[in-house]
Amino acid sequence: MTGYTVTGPFSEILTMSKMPLNGPLADSELEVIRNAGVLMREDVIVKIGAFQEVLDRAQELNASVFEIDTPAVLMPGWIDPHTHICFAGSRASDYALRNSGATYLEIAASGGGIWDTVQKTRDGTKDVLKKTLIRRSLHLLHNGVTTAEVKSGYGLSVNEEMKMLEVINEADSELPIDLVPTCLAAHIVPKEYPDATSYLNQIINELFPVIRDRQLCNRVDAFIEEGAYQPDEIIPYLTAARDHGFDITIHADQFNTGGSRIAIEYGAVSADHLEVSGDKEIEMLAASKTIATVLPGASLGLGVGFAPARKILDAGGSLAIASDWNPGSAPMGDLLTSAAILGAYEKLNNAEVFAGMTFRAAAALRLDDRGKLEERCKADMIGFPCNDYREILYHQGQLPPQYVWKNGQLISS
Ligand code: NIG
Ligand code: FE
Repeated sequence: MTGYTVTGPFSEILTMSKMPLNGPLADSELEVIRNAGVLMREDVIVKIGAFQEVLDRAQELNASVFEIDTPAVLMPGWIDPHTHICFAGSRASDYALRNSGATYLEIAASGGGIWDTVQKTRDGTKDVLKKTLIRRSLHLLHNGVTTAEVKSGYGLSVNEEMKMLEVINEADSELPIDLVPTCLAAHIVPKEYPDATSYLNQIINELFPVIRDRQLCNRVDAFIEEGAYQPDEIIPYLTAARDHGFDITIHADQFNTGGSRIAIEYGAVSADHLEVSGDKEIEMLAASKTIATVLPGASLGLGVGFAPARKILDAGGSLAIASDWNPGSAPMGDLLTSAAILGAYEKLNNAEVFAGMTFRAAAALRLDDRGKLEERCKADMIGFPCNDYREILYHQGQLPPQYVWKNGQLISS
């Protein structure tokens, strides 16, 4: 065993390499290598190119060979930069109520919604929570997601938020998929507190220093929305998060605008949702370094319009796409299906959709070692049973990957 493995020949390799972080793209900008192969050493890509050349190098290095004997297209493993997959219970009742005419904010105001999941998640033991998180994480991995962000936000007390972050970290260490934990202590105001400020003060004083010291996460999120946190209430939380050195990400402009402006002011790595962002917000986002992460699964789950992805790109913004998998607004949790449908509605070409699921999504998590297939990048790769990359989005979720490699290890084939 030399630690080297070569795989191929692939009908096409879509490297997603050498493409800009911002702005519109064209399919002609995609680097497509035909009849191609990849040489890996352990978890890292060593060489990528024409199969014969890669094979010659592999033979010099005595690499083991994993031969692909039917047509296949290879691309970087997907990165899902916004999920809430650590939760207990179901919100099928909310979904039924919404489809009978109630709105998400009305259900929340009447004590259902996020609060319902908080109660069930608090009741769940760490073991049970971890089991369901592992099941959902493996589902993502087998469907091509090799890195997923996972938020807390259903604990909403110092101890319960800590419990969720511990569960996410433990699941990450037990699984091949990389889980990136984010503290969403400011999801809604928990019912035990008279106001947002008294709760957030406790989070700032008792949770932030501990999760920082224990390295349970390096990202902090807040839901800025009517019925959640108002822009002026959230400032001390974001200031403290920034002072502790956390990266900031914001649930912004989902039903009402206001969040994206705060995200930009606080130098957030991403502003997520943006369904109701207008021209002013789009312009601000495009002029900033904050990545616009859109969540088509939430639009599909709530039956509302998509975020203005086309306009964000045309204005020069950077666009990532995430599943937002959660029990309330986005129960489907299918990144490929929701991204493909977003592409059809928002007129995003293959390059723009795939960029949003690969290197632009990696940037939304500040990861620079994945999301593209090039030397020294992680060997996180997915292969589809077709000979033309355009088949992947065309099938709108019905052509899942046949091969998934995570850190150079073949997970499914
Ligand atoms: O991203 N909008 C706020 N948070 C989640 C939904 C969480 C829930 O409803 O449980 C979202 O859509
Ligand atoms: Fe969310």
